[in-house]
Amino acid sequence: MNNVLFKPVRLGPYTLEHRIAMAPLTRMRSEQPGSQPGELMATYYDQRASQGGFIVSEATVVAPTGDGYLGSPGIYADAQIPGWKRVVDAVHAKGGVIFLQLYHAGRQSHVDMQPDGSLPVAPSVVDGYEGVAYTKNGWVPASPHRALAEAEVVGMVEQFRLAAERGKQAGFDGVEIHGANGYLIDQFLQDGSNQRSDRYGGSIENRARFLLEITRAAISVWGKERVGVRLGPSGSFGGMHDSDPEALFTYVAAELDALGIAYLHLIEPRVLGNAEDASKDQNPLAARMLRKVFHGTLVAAGGFKPETAASLVEEGTADLVAFGRYFISNPDLPARIAQGWPLADYDRDTFYGGTAVGYTDYPAYAAATA
Ligand SMILES: Cc1cc2nc3c(=O)[nH]c(=O)nc-3n(C[C@H](O)[C@H](O)[C@H](O)COP(=O)(O)O)c2cc1C
Repeated sequence: MNNVLFKPVRLGPYTLEHRIAMAPLTRMRSEQPGSQPGELMATYYDQRASQGGFIVSEATVVAPTGDGYLGSPGIYADAQIPGWKRVVDAVHAKGGVIFLQLYHAGRQSHVDMQPDGSLPVAPSVVDGYEGVAYTKNGWVPASPHRALAEAEVVGMVEQFRLAAERGKQAGFDGVEIHGANGYLIDQFLQDGSNQRSDRYGGSIENRARFLLEITRAAISVWGKERVGVRLGPSGSFGGMHDSDPEALFTYVAAELDALGIAYLHLIEPRVLGNAEDASKDQNPLAARMLRKVFHGTLVAAGGFKPETAASLVEEGTADLVAFGRYFISNPDLPARIAQGWPLADYDRDTFYGGTAVGYTDYPAYAAATA
């Protein structure tokens, strides 16, 4: 196989046999109440695991205040550990490597998702923000939010640390910190959503503090070799914008480089959260630029096809490429790419929530043609 995607690569202490990663994908099929993974989720990950293949779990809620989409799994309670252990065991049985994506929705939530019906939390209260959440009433506009007090921000870092610890108990191979797509960490990073005047707001150094403290906390649990960070420098999903994204993300990538994390996962331009973004006003920032300041393993995601993924790795811009939507509809995606088999189309209507339909019923290629 001379396709560059099938050249082994190191990821922290792990040797991956191919460079086709499964991107983190929120599917909202955890068991309720309790938001723990059940048998259905274990089957879904099992189907997508491959020998020496890398999977990042769907965004997993680190604190009871962090849920924005009913059905997202959590890692804020010990009772959520056994369900995750089943998922991890299934992936390991296939020879795969799986990291847990740690996430807090921040202002992209709703009072119906919050403990005691209180307001969702954010760095700052910003007028004009229009987000969405998924509650028992379906997709609804995000409710008004409130700003975290400084001591609460410190407490939130600790929630991320505890979640990282539970992830370890579940047997994951590492954690990925979700710093993208307009959720809490991204809200702290970008000045369109962070208007604080304490040590978590204002300068780039201050706005990056929350992410970097969480990263250090995760490293204290896992060691730097088993911690990755995901950033979306170009994304506007969740009402994100910054006055100088180039300076911000260059600073953050350089700081993460100094911490020596296992990998940096970047969402490329042209993707708006979970769909194509045809608008021309995106910042054309991502792997090609941040490669200059981040010297570790780089994972790129966003709108890739097998051919464009191979060229990006070939030119040395990324070490791995993560596929999102094609991994939904092609459980055996690495094998299909290896063999040159056609890729199945995905059905958007079943992305979020529901049953096995559009989740575990996409067949592998051999089965489809048998
Ligand atoms: C249904 C769906 C759910 C997603 N959930 C997450 C998530 O939980 N965490 C995350 O970082 N990105 C999430 N994303 C973004 C993907 O990881 C990926 O960046 C995006 O789909 C672009 O890659 P693609 O063009 O290969 O699909 C999601 C995307 C989709 C389509």
